[in-house]
Amino acid sequence: MIDFAIKNAVVSHGCYLHPSISFLGLGLPENVLTASGMLSVAERKMLYNLALKSYSAHGAVIDAGSFMGSSVVSLAQGLRDNPKSQQFLSPLGFNTKPISSYELGYLPKPRNGSDIVRKFGDVEYRFGDSFLGILKESIAPYEELIELYAGDFCDFEWSGTPIELCFVDLCKTPNLNRHVSSQFLPNLIEDASFFVNQDFFFDRLPWIKVTMGYLHDYFEWYGQVFTSSIYRSKKKIPKEVAEFDPFTEASLDECLRFHDIHASAHLKDADKFRMGLSRSYLIAMKGKTAHALDYLKYVEEEFSHILDDEATNDRGNNFRFKRAFRQIEREVV
Ligand SMILES: C[S@@+](CC[C@H](N)C(=O)[O-])C[C@H]1O[C@@H](n2cnc3c(N)ncnc32)[C@H](O)[C@@H]1O
Repeated sequence: MIDFAIKNAVVSHGCYLHPSISFLGLGLPENVLTASGMLSVAERKMLYNLALKSYSAHGAVIDAGSFMGSSVVSLAQGLRDNPKSQQFLSPLGFNTKPISSYELGYLPKPRNGSDIVRKFGDVEYRFGDSFLGILKESIAPYEELIELYAGDFCDFEWSGTPIELCFVDLCKTPNLNRHVSSQFLPNLIEDASFFVNQDFFFDRLPWIKVTMGYLHDYFEWYGQVFTSSIYRSKKKIPKEVAEFDPFTEASLDECLRFHDIHASAHLKDADKFRMGLSRSYLIAMKGKTAHALDYLKYVEEEFSHILDDEATNDRGNNFRFKRAFRQIEREVV
């Protein structure tokens, strides 16, 4: 297997970074730290740092899947603190504000209708309720920087403006993933743009690994921050390449090759385990349930030493393994 280790990578808890984007030791403005949302402090630092130090006002900034605001506030504050800010605040060929934020506005209630209430920072949120008011409040101080597109992302088309910094946290379905690819990826700027997918090192959503494997010639890998995977564009992605969806259109063997091509030598066992579960889901989603269950058995044996966390973590490795087994066995993936 090829491995794309990063030379002189900066390594710290949950982070493996290209030295040019290292943010270790960087402080965060209080409003970024306290913005409501799901992002870890390290991911907020990554976004703030990219917007502050790497962004050079040659293209737009995307925050796709903004929830209550932590990612888009990190990007906006980084832009505001970036010394080049006067450039992008003057019209630079953009028809709109530099940051486009996309958000549906609610997390769906479970299918069985039960009530789920979860705390995000200080905010208690009931699934099914709208959180758009909270997002609007979070971004109000950045009115000149952020355009909010509320609604289903698949109903929006990108204008074709070049994109310099693209953070994506909504590839929760193959359709959303396909729309991200076709709308945003052909507009990345050769040898300049950053693309970050927040759901990469995750036990589900195998289509993301398949897509990024299919496109690996077009990107240089810049590292990991928890579940986020960071890429820098190497060359322009032709529209027809971005419009091809390998997850639905390629064979299982091709999809497995794309899924498995990513850097892995640096991964901790918990991440390797999640990638293994994602591989099982992929096999199942391509219609091979028995094969998926066999692979899951292999994952269980390989990672048995980290599966005993049930008592200490109710959404840990044991939970994820059992969920995968249940969903694949019942063919409800
Ligand atoms: C993991 S959360 C994003 C977390 C966010 N980046 C933050 O900083 O807290 C994923 C978001 O994607 C949004 N989403 C899911 N499906 C969507 C769709 N079809 N269109 C727009 N947004 C969607 C969800 O409402 C949710 O807020």
